[in-house]
Amino acid sequence: MVIILCGFMGSGKSFLVRKLQSAPNEGLFLDLDDVIFSKCRLDEKNLGELIEKRGWEYFREKEYQCLREILHGKTKDGKSVLLSLGGGALSERSLALIESMDNSYLIWLESSFEKCFERILREGDEKRPLLKKGKDYIHKLYLEREVLYSRSFLKLSEAERDSLETLGRLIELINQRREESE
Ligand code: S3P
Repeated sequence: MVIILCGFMGSGKSFLVRKLQSAPNEGLFLDLDDVIFSKCRLDEKNLGELIEKRGWEYFREKEYQCLREILHGKTKDGKSVLLSLGGGALSERSLALIESMDNSYLIWLESSFEKCFERILREGDEKRPLLKKGKDYIHKLYLEREVLYSRSFLKLSEAERDSLETLGRLIELINQRREESE
């Protein structure tokens, strides 16, 4: 099973992955931003620098290509994969790809805009050059992206993910939801 986490910047994707990773389990944990860096052997020291040098279009294309490689490569072996996406990695194209894959489930970490914004201000902008564009612009992005995130298979509220301790439990929730929708 491939579990794909989506949600706005500051929704807590990396936090959740770190928590699930610290509990003993059999999953493989991937972060799409990190995969882009390692697969493409990029020289830039962080995402801010990458986007400054190569532009958003280059980055978005890499996001799509790496997502496709992961989905095609990792669904065949037995291990579950938990893949965390950058906040802007979902598009009609990537949603269509995810929806076309067997055994891949998109999970939305839903958070209010204010909560996300507060967190991203606290965490800084090294990997988030979009922060330079200001709050109104980021709010607009949030509203546009919510439409894409809401097409997820499952939505987890802040409270639901606070109580989620293991990858196994997340897989149980997905299986439960699958049974309900059958
Ligand atoms: C982005 C979110 C970032 C990172 C890049 C672009 C976005 O990831 O991929 O700065 O467009 O929302 P996080 O969602 O992990 O912050």
